[in-house]
Amino acid sequence: MCGIVGYVGKHPVTRVLIEGLRRLEYRGYDSAGVTVVKDGQFQTLKSTERVEALAKDVAKAKLQGTYGIAHTRWATHGGVTLANAHPHHSSDGLFSLAHNGVIENYLKIKKFLLEKGYTFQSETDTEVLVNLIAYHYQKQPVAADKNRFLESVRRSLRHVEGTYGIAVICKEHLGEIVAARRGSPLILGVGDGEHIIASDVAAIALHTQSVVYLNDEEIVHVTDKDFSLSTIDEDDIEAVIHTVDWSIEEAELGAFKHYMEKEIFDQPVALENAMRGRFSDDGSTSKFGGLNLSPQELRQVDRILFCACGTAWHACLVAEYLIERYARIPVEVEYASEFRYRNAPLDKNTLVFILSQSGETIDTLGALREAKRKGHKTLAIVNVVGSTIAREADGGIYQHAGPEIGVASTKAFTSQVMVAAMMALHLGRIRDMSYSEGQAFVEALKQVPAQVQSILDQSEAIKAIALKYVDAEDFLFLGRQNLFPIALEGALKLKEVSYIHAEGYPAAEMKHGPIALISPECPSVFLVAQEDTYQKTISNIQEVKARKGRVIAIAHEGGDFPKDLVDDLILIPECHPAVQPILATIPVQLMAYAIAAARGCDVDKPRNLAKSVTVE
Ligand code: G6P
Repeated sequence: MCGIVGYVGKHPVTRVLIEGLRRLEYRGYDSAGVTVVKDGQFQTLKSTERVEALAKDVAKAKLQGTYGIAHTRWATHGGVTLANAHPHHSSDGLFSLAHNGVIENYLKIKKFLLEKGYTFQSETDTEVLVNLIAYHYQKQPVAADKNRFLESVRRSLRHVEGTYGIAVICKEHLGEIVAARRGSPLILGVGDGEHIIASDVAAIALHTQSVVYLNDEEIVHVTDKDFSLSTIDEDDIEAVIHTVDWSIEEAELGAFKHYMEKEIFDQPVALENAMRGRFSDDGSTSKFGGLNLSPQELRQVDRILFCACGTAWHACLVAEYLIERYARIPVEVEYASEFRYRNAPLDKNTLVFILSQSGETIDTLGALREAKRKGHKTLAIVNVVGSTIAREADGGIYQHAGPEIGVASTKAFTSQVMVAAMMALHLGRIRDMSYSEGQAFVEALKQVPAQVQSILDQSEAIKAIALKYVDAEDFLFLGRQNLFPIALEGALKLKEVSYIHAEGYPAAEMKHGPIALISPECPSVFLVAQEDTYQKTISNIQEVKARKGRVIAIAHEGGDFPKDLVDDLILIPECHPAVQPILATIPVQLMAYAIAAARGCDVDKPRNLAKSVTVE
């Protein structure tokens, strides 16, 4: 969380920094701030409101400079106050720093610095780091070479425990920015006579498509014309410049009111892109270019572990149902944050799958590293190209869902489920799935974008249903088998964006507790499968109706669903059972969006959340 940006170059610096912050705001929006350098002096403005408020203040103050740094904050150490907003200055006034991450040993360092006479204005761990840099700077001889600034940052970082992506500027080294990372993402954009440092390509792509992804423990010294990359331990590194294919247009809101709405409607295209070029010529299986595992090696896998956080964890649960059913490989699903500290015993033939939209979630990255440390093969399903998880996994599959800006994940989720379904097919076909079953599976997948579009075409009707329940303060989402994860996702979506309390349960499990909540005030959304558990789910609906609960059912067309049993019915197309989780997701997303928008919630930036969680 937190977004940092730094710029030195030919364009007006405040414009570049503010535009960068706008594109990083999904990483946290508790406060924002900017420091630019003019006539050798720091000009700093901060706001405890959103980036737009800061942008207005910057325009009003006519803030100008030649280069600078900026930050958008997701609060960890210290409340949302101006004093705690970044950038932070050293108490001698020489340094200004923007930081993403957590300095875990900051209290110890702070004690040391207080004894040396340094003073602090904020409660943050960041202010400790900037003063530590000032301390190391003063310790070096004044006649030290031109690297004195870089060296003082490097030396300070050697004493730091925890995570950081930082950008630092120094009044005695004008036109230079030093940036470094450990655990928090940091990317250098390399332009013609300009350089930009940011937490995400989104803030860079306006200026250049040439980027250097910093790895952990790397530090970069930047001027407008030049940059040099090295490790914290002082080894020089040859920078590898990548070209990013990042389209600014894809991240524009267009005619939609919110990114969440736009991204819900992006789904037919995102799903098409997840499949593009990934079916065999005979149309009976899927193929992936980046697995780095041969069919023989995949055949050796006798267990799969999926790790992720949040919505991606729900996609893992769908993957469990699909892979166990169609490939007959036992699957376990773990919260990444639990797995990395649990020391779970894993058989040597366990393949570890990591799912992450951003590819930067720190707990998920931690789980990946733990699995690799233990010698397991790791594969990742990631949306953001070039992200840390994508680079560190042994192989993987890009989702190609396009930029997802809304904090509540929508198109990334259905695209993860699509990739998981394709993986189930792939693994199934190198085991027991027949040629004709494979062909039927491929055909079913290919129909999904059009089926999703047909549900989106009903969006006005779904919205009208959702608005009947806008005043509810509690909701239940219930589904069985591969629709149980969609019940969890439906509940999560609603609570994230509308702040309504919602719980997802397996429909049958409702009898063992949640049924106590049933009343006319607590509506239930039932996700009704086409096959197997269809009749059982209808019985569960009867149980709710018998207790005067209101029911919205999401069921398939073409069946004999008893319409009069429920208060509201949303029909989705008949489909192959493997893809019903994708189709059933669309109405719950539309409902969550409609209710949140009607309640006047900040749909794209819900309170307390951030899209990319880079602290533990
Ligand atoms: C945060 C976001 C969620 C997201 C989760 C995992 O909690 O608010 O929307 O599902 O992180 O993110 P990832 O990028 O790893 O999929």
